[in-house]
Amino acid sequence: MKKVLIIGAGLAGCYLASLLQDTCHVTMITKGTQADSNSMLAQGGIAASLDPGDSPAEHAADTLAAGQYHNRQTAVNQLVTTGPKLIQRLITHGMAFDHQANGQLDFGLEGAHSHHRILHANGDRTGAALTKFVQSHLNHVHWQPHTTALELQRQNGICTGVIVRNQRTHQIEILSGEAIVLATGGLGNLFPLTTNDATITGDGIAMAARIGAAISDMAFVQFHPTLLSLHGRCYGLITEAIRGSGAILVDENDHRIMADVLQKDLAPRDVVARHLKAWQQRGHQLFLDISAIPNFTQRFPGVTENLDRHHVPFRSTHRIPIQPGAHFVMGGVTTDLSAQTSIPHLFAIGEVACNGVHGANRLASNSLLDCLVSAKKAADKIQALQPTEIGKAAVAAKPAITPHLPELADLQAHAWRYLGVVRTPAGLKAFLDWLSPFNYRQLSPRQLTADQLTIANLCLCASLIAKAAFAEPKSLGAHYLEETVPSR
Ligand code: SIN
Repeated sequence: MKKVLIIGAGLAGCYLASLLQDTCHVTMITKGTQADSNSMLAQGGIAASLDPGDSPAEHAADTLAAGQYHNRQTAVNQLVTTGPKLIQRLITHGMAFDHQANGQLDFGLEGAHSHHRILHANGDRTGAALTKFVQSHLNHVHWQPHTTALELQRQNGICTGVIVRNQRTHQIEILSGEAIVLATGGLGNLFPLTTNDATITGDGIAMAARIGAAISDMAFVQFHPTLLSLHGRCYGLITEAIRGSGAILVDENDHRIMADVLQKDLAPRDVVARHLKAWQQRGHQLFLDISAIPNFTQRFPGVTENLDRHHVPFRSTHRIPIQPGAHFVMGGVTTDLSAQTSIPHLFAIGEVACNGVHGANRLASNSLLDCLVSAKKAADKIQALQPTEIGKAAVAAKPAITPHLPELADLQAHAWRYLGVVRTPAGLKAFLDWLSPFNYRQLSPRQLTADQLTIANLCLCASLIAKAAFAEPKSLGAHYLEETVPSR
């Protein structure tokens, strides 16, 4: 049986494992547990043109427009045509998406969609419902939780395995496989305000970059407009589906912030995030006004629970204090349409990958769909791989160098200031100058503590973002340069 190593416990990794478990020996490596991933936190839903009045062509058109036509068209076509079939298959196997009273699937609306096409489950707990459903079908997969992937191994040009550290015993182990799959998510924790799970620290992108895999589109980082904001800190996502149900963005004077924009509160995320940021810089506070939504607490039980946990008096004020924060990276490890990276036998699926589907700004609720589609394509390719001779490579000793790294909070503050919603060429240069004395590129991951490795990985990702942004002289989608003419 082929050995497949999947790094990451979110929807993409778990769905791939479910497709391969009967024909391959699958090991799932995760830093935390099965419960720790961005997929588990996804709220709004999963987009698919399953409504009879909708079509893959319309979904593709919305995906391209949101992505500012920077998308790879073939990847978009693959997403919108394969995605609905995979969702139908999950429904056939018992996945329970929410229905209307008449028994029809309940399609929600989100920003930049021309059609109600967002399937959701347990109200606003879609990601957890879907990921747990897929995990419940993993019968013969070997889990290695609390295991940190340190370095990918490369022999004769192909990827043959990964060096990991057991967090409990601190033992280092080399795991070998015919296919090594990065499913590690993005890099949200590079920023101090983020929707991301605490485990999401750019590990997959950093590991791939260290062995020379192609990386692309790193200039494009999506900032979600609405994170619950209290006293300058953020406490999780306030799903866009709330705006899709009629909520509007206002300031402390009840002025409607998005009134003059074409798609108003349902404009693409990059547009909304920039408007909010500009409003905030003029000294205003930002709120989501939910007074137009009947049965808010029933439709959005997850958000309600979070608001209650933080004692937000939304039942009387009908307002939720919000601000934008880092959500998703459109760039990542370059792949083809089969999730194959530039290094043979190394695959990347879900957010860590850049197959070009999201362009310069991801359309809402396309990420869970891409998790399914990229995993399915990787599964087909891995099934067809010719077996390779994989000898266990020895771990070559690397000279230890004294780490010189920034504090995590300092890195995050600099990233927020210079790589955030609005950038300037001078700011990008200032960021690269600030980062240059640190030796994150020279260090061997094996010599680092877990905290040091996190910072080194995030520094590497930050440098990739800053360099890509610096090389992109015009504003496009989520990459917005203040001193150039915006594309919209
Ligand atoms: C949301 O529910 O607003 C986030 C969904 C997504 O990122 O697509």
